[in-house]
Amino acid sequence: MAASASATTMLLKYPTICGVPNNESSSCSPKDNHLNVSQQQNNNNPLLKFRTQPTKLVANAVASPVFPASSTTTSSPSSSSINQLVHEFDPKIPPEDAFTPPSSWYTEPAFYSHELDRIFYKGWQVAGISDQIKEKNQYFTGTLGNVEYVVSRDGEGKVHAFHNVCTHRASILACGSGKKSCFVCPYHGWVFGMDGDLTKATQTTDAQTFDPKEYGLKPLKVAVWGPFVLISLDKTLPESDVGTEWLGSSAEDVKAHAFDPSLKFIHRSEFPMECNWKVFSDNYLDSSYHVPYAHKYYATELDFDTYDTQTIGKVVIQRVGSNTNRPDGFDRLGEKAFYAFTYPNFAVERYGPWMTTMHVQPIAQRKCKLVVDYYIEDSLLDNKDYIEKGIAINDNVQKEDKVLCESVQKGLETPAYRSGRYVMPIEKGIHHFHCWLHQILK
Ligand code: FES
Ligand SMILES: [Fe+2]
Repeated sequence: MAASASATTMLLKYPTICGVPNNESSSCSPKDNHLNVSQQQNNNNPLLKFRTQPTKLVANAVASPVFPASSTTTSSPSSSSINQLVHEFDPKIPPEDAFTPPSSWYTEPAFYSHELDRIFYKGWQVAGISDQIKEKNQYFTGTLGNVEYVVSRDGEGKVHAFHNVCTHRASILACGSGKKSCFVCPYHGWVFGMDGDLTKATQTTDAQTFDPKEYGLKPLKVAVWGPFVLISLDKTLPESDVGTEWLGSSAEDVKAHAFDPSLKFIHRSEFPMECNWKVFSDNYLDSSYHVPYAHKYYATELDFDTYDTQTIGKVVIQRVGSNTNRPDGFDRLGEKAFYAFTYPNFAVERYGPWMTTMHVQPIAQRKCKLVVDYYIEDSLLDNKDYIEKGIAINDNVQKEDKVLCESVQKGLETPAYRSGRYVMPIEKGIHHFHCWLHQILK
């Protein structure tokens, strides 16, 4: 199908993280691999200081702003301080009476580090999509908190995940995504197979005492579930029943409503955001409370009277019918939209002929990246105008959300705001998410 292939080629583009082309086959020569170290992140911003005297909140206090303690310090917070911060949110208070978590949950580097340990380095996390490694010798790289990872499919078809760190002198090994028959370290040319084995340590002599078998890439757990590739740093995690482990009791619901093998990956958009990752998650979970005010076009597509939000385990499912009287008549959503957000940071969306995924990736306490992947039904692959318009509309919603989220982050960092309130029932998804966070972080 030549025409559909060209439409797909036009849009199928994975942004690289290292500024070098990744789509050519490698000859395993050291020249094939390059590195731009600017991709590495600094997760400790010393300019944002830890509050040592969190203000205690009470259930029935008036909803006026509570100002933070006047003094701040740069000293390292203890685990008891973190624990105190976690407990500033009280999940036992009914949401109608409750305060939201304090702003320090969104601004403190130490709290962010605690989240990495307790949330992102446990359980299954989305690493990428299976389309990126559908052929032998394909690979992709990514970052999860402070972890650099590479996922590959070896020459036998087996999928692997590793820390993307050379075992010689810790250089980042692979960049972006593409196809290679091996990874060649850009620093001193050590060569690793797609299965992670060290196959060549350059310039070593017979006098060398180390065993190459012990210097393969450090493995991570990896699983493919539906169109997604998941990884885990938790070595004890079982590899059976990954979907249930990841999505809990909603796994079958999400699968039934969102996955369709005829859907084809067509495009990825990325939105770097200057905000804590939870600001975006909160924004996603407000049952479109903000949509009439902040997304003028998207608001015309929805029938708000049909909005329904369910909280199930670690998943919030939002369903909404589409407005049949759209001013421009462009049918993007079909009859209804299904949005399943899995804590902490990943949403699967199904509407009309589309599936989109929204992955908000933490980078630092006030920095994250939203990655939006677009899939579409096979029959529409040729329809370039429809695809481009649909992507432009959805990308525009994300641009509008980026402005909102960055504005919220700025507000959270001012002395004017300490904690907010929940508007119920429309913000029940946000309250449910905060209760889950409290449970995991305490
Ligand atoms: S750091 Fe990789 S070969 Fe030296
Ligand atoms: Fe939004």
